[in-house]
Amino acid sequence: MNLLQEYKKQQEWREWERFIEFIPLSANDIIVDLGCSVGDASRMFSHKVKHVVGVDINSEFIAFCDSRKTTNETFKLSDFQSLDYREIQRYFGEVNGIWASYSISYLSDPISYLTSLYSVLKEGGWIALLDVSCFISGNLAKGSEYYERVVAFEQASYRSGLYDFDFGAKMQGMLGQAGFNIVHVDSDVTDPELNFSGAASADVIEGWSARLGRMKKLRELLGEEYTEFCNEFLANLSADTHDKRGNVRFVVARK
Ligand SMILES: C[S@@+](CC[C@H](N)C(=O)[O-])C[C@H]1O[C@@H](n2cnc3c(N)ncnc32)[C@H](O)[C@@H]1O
Repeated sequence: MNLLQEYKKQQEWREWERFIEFIPLSANDIIVDLGCSVGDASRMFSHKVKHVVGVDINSEFIAFCDSRKTTNETFKLSDFQSLDYREIQRYFGEVNGIWASYSISYLSDPISYLTSLYSVLKEGGWIALLDVSCFISGNLAKGSEYYERVVAFEQASYRSGLYDFDFGAKMQGMLGQAGFNIVHVDSDVTDPELNFSGAASADVIEGWSARLGRMKKLRELLGEEYTEFCNEFLANLSADTHDKRGNVRFVVARK
């Protein structure tokens, strides 16, 4: 499975529609989807608003989105940190909605970025963030011999500025610091891949296997134990006793 196939598969588990009721959307909204990947969230919003601009740094994803875009969708190959909001305003109107799912967690300084988003967003506009918390450790059995090392790995990744496996738990505070007013918080969003109780489906296990295969730094840390770790991790996901532990969070805020 390549990354495009992996991400396309994941969309089945996201159920984007269910988030809409918590977002103060209006039909005239101009919204940006930051880190849009294969564009399913952009597509869902495009049915409900005036125009959606999806942005991603991955050229394969943007080529895929461009190949199937509709008249009120635009896709841009760009680092979303350097998105030109004046250009968007010139073509489509002032941005009054920002969606970012599982993407701001890649930034080394998310507070500065959220503060910059506050300044470009139209007065009264909204921002909705969906992201992971304790991404790997939260899906590992608490009694696992790897648990402490995985938590330490997640914290080291955050300190290095590479990726924050616990970004979801910080979003509400960061949005407040950036000046936004919080209007909705869900600290335990169910997701059949990332935050669920009971045994995962075979498809989900396949998805996690592919993700674990991509986690070079965790593989380096655990060395020869990595295969055993992966087997234990996947066995925990497949067990009826697997429990959901607040690994996905959702926050909506307004300017
Ligand atoms: C984990 S995926 C999430 C994709 C999609 N939002 C979803 O929820 O299914 C993160 C996406 O953000 C993109 N991304 C990460 N950092 C980025 C940046 N600085 N600028 C633009 N895209 C970025 C990646 O290429 C990837 O497509």
